[in-house]
Amino acid sequence: MQEKIAVLGSGSWGTALAKLLADNGHDVIMWALEEEVAEGINARHRNPLYLPEVDLPRTVRATASIGEAVKSRGVVVSAVPSHALRGVWERAAGALSADAIAISCTKGIESPGFKRMTEVIAECARALPEGRILALSGPSFAKEVAAGRPTSVVIAGKDPAAARRAQSIFRSRRFLAFTASDVIGVEVGGAVKNVIAIAAGITDGMKLGFNARASLITRGLYEMIKIGKALGANPLTFAGLSGIGDLVLTCTEGFSRNHLLGRLIGEGARPEGALSEIGRSGMVAEGAETARAVRGLIESKGIKAPICEIVHRILFEGLSPPEAMEMLLSLDLGEEMGSITAGSYPLTGT
Ligand SMILES: NC(=O)c1ccc[n+]([C@@H]2O[C@H](COP(=O)([O-])OP(=O)(O)OC[C@H]3O[C@@H](n4cnc5c(N)ncnc54)[C@H](O)[C@@H]3O)[C@@H](O)[C@H]2O)c1
Repeated sequence: MQEKIAVLGSGSWGTALAKLLADNGHDVIMWALEEEVAEGINARHRNPLYLPEVDLPRTVRATASIGEAVKSRGVVVSAVPSHALRGVWERAAGALSADAIAISCTKGIESPGFKRMTEVIAECARALPEGRILALSGPSFAKEVAAGRPTSVVIAGKDPAAARRAQSIFRSRRFLAFTASDVIGVEVGGAVKNVIAIAAGITDGMKLGFNARASLITRGLYEMIKIGKALGANPLTFAGLSGIGDLVLTCTEGFSRNHLLGRLIGEGARPEGALSEIGRSGMVAEGAETARAVRGLIESKGIKAPICEIVHRILFEGLSPPEAMEMLLSLDLGEEMGSITAGSYPLTGT
């Protein structure tokens, strides 16, 4: 069935998803912050700023008016960066259709506080019931999705019928969309992996080797599980696409800005310099803000998460990568799965 879909955000991810959805036969309108982006998509069927090499289906239209984008749309796909999410949804909420579903594709956490993206959307769009706000996450570089390379994601929602509807909207021969009910786990996985990706990038920048990188991914997963469990997620979710799946992708190769941020720092750049270098290319390394949010959370809940803690200290407190490495290597070690195995809650052990 053809759906009327608005895609909020015309960065790399919004552009790749708009192409996928239009290729799936849906009626897609994109909202772009920049007039020139909307104009380029309407006139030349290309986004001049993000994934400019990708030809969009001619049916995709774009507008710089949020109200026009979401009006009469049954599905709103949200692909704006986390720092912009609240502002965008405050403007979108008033124009939403009464029966709309929202699918958040943003990987981040609002800070200060520790608000997941679906929670922010729920606060802005109070008429939307919780079951109609879903989260899509998983190992999915926009470039590869736009090129039609095989990709798997998970779409989590409390209402199984809404999750299945979202699944059928996105699913294509090359884009496998699984469903899940653990919205918290899927969102925490998608956000915290960016912090671990910064740590993996630092390790790579310092040329510490593959063993070190694999240790970081594995111990990062352990911290992700602890954080998720403290918030009510199902630990098994992190064995899935939005946990280990996205960690493997973001920490090992390719186009991740968070990994790049870490690598620049590991090679000796100052964090502020590395952040502004990435910012200059019009991109955001969301892991930095997520590191702030995670630090606040682990402090307030007394969770031991040394990798997340150290990433925060490197980014914002002047800790150097060699000092950080020494700290991690001198940790007092306990049982490997210590505080996440049954009965060992709370999560304060190593
Ligand atoms: N790029 C990917 O491969 C990918 C894959 C999966 C998920 N995501 C997630 O999708 C989200 C968007 O990422 P992206 O890669 O498309 O970003 P991007 O850096 O390619 O584009 C950023 C977009 O945000 C817009 N923007 C910037 N400031 C804004 C503001 N104040 N208000 C409204 N819009 C603003 C820009 O106009 C642009 O459209 C992120 O949460 C990211 O983690 C990205």
